[in-house]
Amino acid sequence: MTRVLILGANGQLARNTTRVFLETTDAALTLYLRRASRLANPDPSRVRIVDGDVLDASALSAAMQGQEVVYANLSADIARQAGAIIEGMHASGVKRLIFISSMGIYAEVPGEQYRSVLDPYRDSAALIEKSDLDFTILRPGWFTHEEEIDYQLTQKGEAFRGHDVSLNSLSDLIVKLATTPGLHVRASLGVGRA
Ligand SMILES: NC(=O)c1ccc[n+]([C@@H]2O[C@H](COP(=O)([O-])OP(=O)(O)OC[C@H]3O[C@@H](n4cnc5c(N)ncnc54)[C@H](OP(=O)(O)O)[C@@H]3O)[C@@H](O)[C@H]2O)c1
Repeated sequence: MTRVLILGANGQLARNTTRVFLETTDAALTLYLRRASRLANPDPSRVRIVDGDVLDASALSAAMQGQEVVYANLSADIARQAGAIIEGMHASGVKRLIFISSMGIYAEVPGEQYRSVLDPYRDSAALIEKSDLDFTILRPGWFTHEEEIDYQLTQKGEAFRGHDVSLNSLSDLIVKLATTPGLHVRASLGVGRA
């Protein structure tokens, strides 16, 4: 039973992935979010809900105790959040990090220009890549609500393939990463529809 901490657990992708974890694995989940009363506990036997901001170092480090995987599904001040996560993981001894970023951070999308809105994403990826963590950074295309699971991966240094990707595809990949030791460790993967 893998113990997974989900940061930003009320996010769109995080909620979909929580459902897929519960339906397809026996993982024990800690859902970490601000204003936790927004979220109903879907399965109290396997799910714990913790109220917290990722930038609150003591709450974050307490939530990380005993976890095997941290899955970060955040937005906004994402470079600062990445720094806080790396510190918290060092303090609590957790090594495995799955971090949701965005396509375009390496100017890897054909026809797309460098966009400053991605600067925090670029900075957060640089921080994570220079850490000693067992990270996988995911760079998804635009999210869709299609039911399908259909995706292809591109490595850092390759041109991005695909344009959009379903939430179910991303959740499928995140669950595989969390539950398969060593899968795509220290990689930054583009994820687009095949
Ligand atoms: N939508 C797309 O097509 C697309 C494409 C590529 C990449 N992405 C990126 O993928 C990531 C996940 O997407 P999503 O749709 O799941 O995002 P989302 O619904 O906006 O969820 C992000 C979550 O991060 C939480 N958060 C932000 N700052 C936090 C903090 N300091 N402490 C704790 N939680 C914090 C937010 O919490 P609150 O609810 O409390 O604000 C929110 O629930 C985002 O970074 C997004 O930019 C999206």
